[in-house]
Amino acid sequence: MPKRKLCFVYGTRPEIIKLSPVIKLCRKSKIPFFCIHTGQHWSYQLDRIFFKELSLPAPQYRLRIKSKAPFRQGDHTGRMLIAIEDIMLKEMPYCVIVQGDTNSALAGALTAEKISTTESYTGFHIKVAHVEAGLRSYDRTMPEETNRFIADHLSDFLFVPTAKEGKILRKEGVPGSRIYKTGNTIVDTVKQCVAVAEKESLILDKLGLSKGSYVLLTLHRQENVDSKKTFQNILKSLKEVKSALKLQVIFPMHPRTAKMLARFKLKIPRDIKVVNPMGFLDFLWLETNAALVMTDSGGVQEEACTLRIGCVTLRDNTERPETVEVGSNIIAGTNPVNIVKACKKMLKSRKKWRNPLGDGKASERILKVLMKYNR
Ligand code: UD1
Ligand code: UDP
Repeated sequence: MPKRKLCFVYGTRPEIIKLSPVIKLCRKSKIPFFCIHTGQHWSYQLDRIFFKELSLPAPQYRLRIKSKAPFRQGDHTGRMLIAIEDIMLKEMPYCVIVQGDTNSALAGALTAEKISTTESYTGFHIKVAHVEAGLRSYDRTMPEETNRFIADHLSDFLFVPTAKEGKILRKEGVPGSRIYKTGNTIVDTVKQCVAVAEKESLILDKLGLSKGSYVLLTLHRQENVDSKKTFQNILKSLKEVKSALKLQVIFPMHPRTAKMLARFKLKIPRDIKVVNPMGFLDFLWLETNAALVMTDSGGVQEEACTLRIGCVTLRDNTERPETVEVGSNIIAGTNPVNIVKACKKMLKSRKKWRNPLGDGKASERILKVLMKYNR
């Protein structure tokens, strides 16, 4: 049995969803751990609903470090560092585990690293593990790109979804001995939940939808919704997609998007069905039955690939190029003409790809590595 605890730091919807299989496996294997929730996401529909649906233990520490988006990224991350340091100094875990590219992930990794720099006179050392390491959009205007780059370069254990991310990291000078190919934990989550979603979700009936009769849309990235012009372009494309494809468009709207829509005084085109953000089971079941997914989300690109549903990405780049290579994803940008073209192409394409993102055993591999060293 390991001597010291593991510590998970998370704060947003995708981190909760993607760390859930690792945390549950820790609990099942009786590995000592605790969790720090930064409070980056706090609305019930972006936070607590997932703990309930995924049967996750409540975090031992719940901070209330809400963002002030669209401004003051530094303030947000800085407040997290201060609060997380207090907890880590008290608990002194063996390793801090962060996932992905959010401010919460950066704060967890950086706090542990800062504590370890005092090792020569305090004896304190905390290792850092990064789940979903090595992804790159090469777009430094995205806060996520900075977060993931720094988290990678601070980490002792870098868990990459595929060989491609391992290659990227080695090229950046990360020693190969720190890199472990595990697959993406989203595949674990999807595999563990899809049968439950089929059994429990009533969302198709609730929205009056049938299999293949609708496009599922999500939109929340800073570069898309905090720029009035880009946001307007995307809204224009929705109208055109609806009339060109003759399919309904269902849009569970992220609170950031709702906030910016009101601030810019923009209107959603008529006939686009806007609903509140959903729980994971309803959302997963809507994805599974969609004719097509349109998104700027990282996790949704991966889920569409895993479920063999075509995806059109409303961005100029992706840090998930494997999905494009196997044909599950088209990068359409934000120009309405290109978006409509991409949707038509994706609807016609064969959905026969092999999932490059893993086999659903990423969590097992991650914990096996961490337990090998934590003796
Ligand atoms: C954050 C992550 C992004 C991730 C997304 C997942 C960063 C820099 N961004 O973006 O990578 O894709 O989470 O959804 O870490 N809000 C609420 N309730 C909530 C959470 C947010 O109303 O529970 C509203 C608030 O007005 C807030 C805004 O959304 O200011 C933005 O929240 P924030 O966490 O900064 O960014 P996200 O867009 O959620
Ligand atoms: N998701 C959800 N309900 C919704 C929209 C998305 O449960 O209404 C889930 C989705 O299945 C995926 C995750 O949220 O697992 C993606 O999160 P998000 O798009 O917020 O962040 P990103 O992946 O872009 O960081």
